Amino acid sequence: GYDISALLKETGNVTVDSGFVNTASCSSAITFIDGDEGILRYRGYPIEQLAEKSSFLEVSYLLIYGELPSQTELEGFTERVRQHTMLHEDLKGFFSGFPRDAHPMPVLSSAVGALGTFYQDSLDPFDKEHVEISTIRLLAKLPTIAAYAYKKSIGQPFLYPDNELSLTENFLRMTFGVPATDYEIDPDMVKALDQLLILHADHEQNCSTSTVRLVGSAHANLFNSVSAGIHALSGPLHGGANSAVLEMLDGILKDGGDVDSFVKKVKNKEDGVKLMGFGHRVYKNYDPRAAIIKQTTDTILHKDGVRDPLLDIALQLEQRALEDEYFIERKLYPNVDFYTGLIYKAMGFPTKMFTVLFALGRLPGWIAQWREMIEDPATKIGRPRQIYTGANERDYKAITSR
Ligand code: ACO
Repeated sequence: GYDISALLKETGNVTVDSGFVNTASCSSAITFIDGDEGILRYRGYPIEQLAEKSSFLEVSYLLIYGELPSQTELEGFTERVRQHTMLHEDLKGFFSGFPRDAHPMPVLSSAVGALGTFYQDSLDPFDKEHVEISTIRLLAKLPTIAAYAYKKSIGQPFLYPDNELSLTENFLRMTFGVPATDYEIDPDMVKALDQLLILHADHEQNCSTSTVRLVGSAHANLFNSVSAGIHALSGPLHGGANSAVLEMLDGILKDGGDVDSFVKKVKNKEDGVKLMGFGHRVYKNYDPRAAIIKQTTDTILHKDGVRDPLLDIALQLEQRALEDEYFIERKLYPNVDFYTGLIYKAMGFPTKMFTVLFALGRLPGWIAQWREMIEDPATKIGRPRQIYTGANERDYKAITSR
């Protein structure tokens, strides 16, 4: 509703790029995406190879330090993370301040912001040792915080980390285990979760990562920057999409499972209904992560011989969409979130926890990107411009004459 060229004349040489569709905010050597070809690589390694052969901690090392670790380096890194899984007892008290039904994402974000208050002597973003210890603390403590946020929401006592276990095993035990009862670790579940965390570990300058970089560009510390990233991730157009997908599938099932009429609603843009878990700003082809996850979905969902009816709805939706002009024209394919919710549900996680799992996976990416940003001499404080469309100068009026 406004004349952009006139405004540009008034404002000077400013480029408007809503959503930063064509604007790079930085250069980065971490993640490569080719959206047309459906390619994703971390530090040059194809996501398919990492998902099959690596572990989440090894991928975290790769993203943060730039190379795959040697055996000794990986053992040293794993040990350092293992030593920091506990939370300060006072931080545990923090959880009781939230209402019982609090969504775990803001709890996670607040607890991560609060972590910095426990380590005030090691927060200098330009001190390499401070950054290193903050990195280890975050990687070690986020699973504990996430499990506590879950325990809090169901009113169960917190379990201390068991450092005999791997990071993923420990997270599952702290989440689903009960004090004084043995928790049997299911290796299929551990493998599937570890793989999902790898697939979420970085995705270059997405909304939450750009948030982490933007906050960090003001020299805010790593904890505060990651805390902001968690809030960004919670939005339904970003990480929140994985729970939105399950709610959508549930809704279709409750309405009698009529996939065709749902697709029609989406195409007619009725009430702004979208096919959640479809479409991506960068991928205009099948999201390579979705292809890997689809295979895991088969393994986990058929494990006990029980088939979730929501999976059939998802498969039908995908089939319809891939054959439909509306989706073909707009290059809308399943993204990483289309199938993850079904796996998380089969693992026993409530919908509220899905985005928390995304945050656990994305953490090494946020840390790697923040560190790259802080170390890059070309970094300036992030400060976009705007095109002003408000009132021209006018005089203040006394309240009695308004
Ligand atoms: N269902 C139906 N139509 C869609 C969808 C969808 N999921 N996604 C995009 N479209 C349509 C838009 O309505 C638009 O149509 P138009 O040209 O007739 O106006 C066209 O496709 C282009 O879409 P944009 O919104 O311009 O694409 P953008 O790149 O801005 O958005 C996004 C990408 C946010 C991911 C979008 O596809 C979406 O909302 N998807 C559903 C939510 C989702 O799954 N998010 C997770 C993303 S992946 C992640 O964060 C891990």
